[in-house]
Amino acid sequence: MINSTVYTYQVDTPGRSYPVHVGAGLLTTLAPTLIAELGRGSRVAVVTHPGLVAKYAAPLCEALKLEGADCILSTIPAGERTKTLATVAKLYDDWARHHLDRRTIIVAVGGGVLGDITGFAAATYLRGVAVVQVPTTLLAQVDASIGGKTGVDLRAGKNLVGSFHQPKAVIADPEALATLPFRELRSGLAEVIKYGIIFDNLLFASIKDSLPAMLRRDAACLLPAIARCCEIKAQIVSEDETEQGVRAILNFGHTIGHAVETATHYRIYKHGEAVAIGMVSACLIGEELGITPASVTSETMAALQLAGLPYRLPNEISSEELLAHAAHDKKARNGRLRWVLAQSIGTTCVQSDVDNAIVLKCLQKQRDL
Ligand code: GLY
Repeated sequence: MINSTVYTYQVDTPGRSYPVHVGAGLLTTLAPTLIAELGRGSRVAVVTHPGLVAKYAAPLCEALKLEGADCILSTIPAGERTKTLATVAKLYDDWARHHLDRRTIIVAVGGGVLGDITGFAAATYLRGVAVVQVPTTLLAQVDASIGGKTGVDLRAGKNLVGSFHQPKAVIADPEALATLPFRELRSGLAEVIKYGIIFDNLLFASIKDSLPAMLRRDAACLLPAIARCCEIKAQIVSEDETEQGVRAILNFGHTIGHAVETATHYRIYKHGEAVAIGMVSACLIGEELGITPASVTSETMAALQLAGLPYRLPNEISSEELLAHAAHDKKARNGRLRWVLAQSIGTTCVQSDVDNAIVLKCLQKQRDL
């Protein structure tokens, strides 16, 4: 039976208030009407990957035309390695060729990388045009599409160039996950597990029970889990748009996770896989500091294993190299890393005075798990 429930959460930031809609079939039902309404007669520029044109972007453009909106379509290649200024420049060129003006609505149809690139291009084109995020991966639906973080990577590190550019709306349709490559689905589950650990022990308990069904893409389990993650993210971003405080907890597992991604040149690990490894690093560091109970580490590892996610550090990268990459992370302050550590399943704290020797010891422990 198709679940027709639509969950809507509001993100309220000082500059913009916008809805996050989550529901089965929204790509074909709500998306065209809402986007056309937001555009009010102006043009719509959809950005997607070549592989998503026939499935999602072209039908959306057709539906937008029926709603009276003039729609153009641009494609960019998939993959974290395309998250560069060169890809942004390609979008600027496309949009300039079509003479898009400041009233244009940009629509990002794809995963987190596409949303970040497109959001950044929208934030900077003509000093800023509106964007609607239509995430089609689990990772983008529960995290990347909400909260306005946009940007690209530099050789020196991930997301080093970017801006906060809140979307006009986020429309997440779990039916898009039916054709998502399995590894991408698993990668997204790492972020779902993360929300349970950082914020909601009941969510964590329900995820553990429903992971096998979620891996089978059982909509009855995926939809409420996605909705709860969106609700948590909307609440956190509303409290702290620019990550001066509570928003930092969303980076649980990301300090070592980003370092793993950078050190392996975005070739080996999906983002969620690297975050899974990083969450275990954070647990071990928290344990060493007496902050994280051992039971939290074992529960985290059990959930990651159930989801088929990695938790060991790659042996080909030294711990020192990982620390060096982590120090370049833009979340470091005056060269000091800020570690998000779990105090229990559902609560976290941020520590910035962790000795490198402790981190190195824990990374070694993680190799021996
Ligand atoms: N992905 C973490 C954040 O949006 O803050």
